[in-house]
Amino acid sequence: MVRCVMSLLAHLMTIAVLCGSCQVFQMHQQPASQPVLVINTWPFVNATRAAFAALSRTGSALDAVEAGCLQAEADQSLESVSYGHHPDEAGNVTFDAMLMNGVTMEVGAVAAMPDILEAVSVARAVMERTGHTMLVGDRAADFAVEMGFKRRSLNTDSGGQATASQTSAATCSPPADHSCGPYRPASSRDSNPGNRRLGHDTIGMVAMDAGGGLAVGTTTNGAAHRVPGRVGDTAVVGAGGYAKAGVGAAVGTGDGDILMRYLLAFAAVSEMSLGASPEAACRAALASVRPPPSGFHGALAAVDADGNVGGACIGFDSFQISVMRPGMPEPSLLPVPCSPGRPARL
Ligand SMILES: *[C@@H]1O[C@H](CO)[C@@H](O)[C@H](O)[C@H]1NC(C)=O
Ligand SMILES: *[C@@H]1O[C@H](CO)[C@@H](O)[C@H](O)[C@H]1NC(C)=O
Repeated sequence: MVRCVMSLLAHLMTIAVLCGSCQVFQMHQQPASQPVLVINTWPFVNATRAAFAALSRTGSALDAVEAGCLQAEADQSLESVSYGHHPDEAGNVTFDAMLMNGVTMEVGAVAAMPDILEAVSVARAVMERTGHTMLVGDRAADFAVEMGFKRRSLNTDSGGQATASQTSAATCSPPADHSCGPYRPASSRDSNPGNRRLGHDTIGMVAMDAGGGLAVGTTTNGAAHRVPGRVGDTAVVGAGGYAKAGVGAAVGTGDGDILMRYLLAFAAVSEMSLGASPEAACRAALASVRPPPSGFHGALAAVDADGNVGGACIGFDSFQISVMRPGMPEPSLLPVPCSPGRPARL
């Protein structure tokens, strides 16, 4: 009888220990495997807030990055992203935008698209309503209209730069043998090389949701005074952004004409898949721009599968990543020290 009770007790203890350890395992496992957060390039905290609000409302990482990018497209204080700024040489404002679902690897993108404000939502329609990945130019706007979006002028008077008269093609100095792309007025190239770093502060966002969702969203009005038809890194998958569930995601900003040649977002995610931290991954990816052209400036922000955030930059005076997680009343800004680039050629 006593032996029987002892054996029963031993059994119960074994079960208790097993259950206890399995609970502990779950408690450690759950938050680590399903982090929830929103990050974006630059201190564009209103976009972070908009994205996080959508994440809280719908629980979808894709909804979050779409909402954040929509906020930025409409926010006139974000001259490097929103409508009404950075027209091409002909004075036309256009958008490049991209969404990527890191779980399904679906991508939707639009590039050099005029007349439609909600570019990132059009990118989502490309992803969800067609079998395609990218639509460009006026045909992308036609598609958007078919999807129910409204054509409207993206030029504004208050934007200042957006009228054709102010961005006469005659003041631009393209070509091929020169440092153009982004093209800018010859008059300001000589007097103020620092200008070159204006106008590349595009927004790239990453969101992770509690269901294991991982998404990237990017949008921009493009480089000012670009040749009409120019597309930079923002809308190009692997360049402006990339996401892979179980590994992480990265987004880039800066001199898109250079950045896109190195597929830096893809490179950063590849580095993380080999075990690099987000910061080390961004550094390694940026270091692949070799030799960095004079005046080159670029920045990357990355999130790993555990929700750790890091970044790297070169040539900018400073770079910040805006981060928001559950329980935070406000986004916080993660400062990223930049390594010096080579000065712009005069
Ligand atoms: C965010 O929006 C508020 C107005 O709602 C504005 O005052 C503030 O400047 C914005 N912040 C940024 C960083 O754009
Ligand atoms: C700029 O927009 C105007 C008005 O839509 C159009 O007539 C013109 O062709 C556009 N220019 C370019 C270069 O796309």
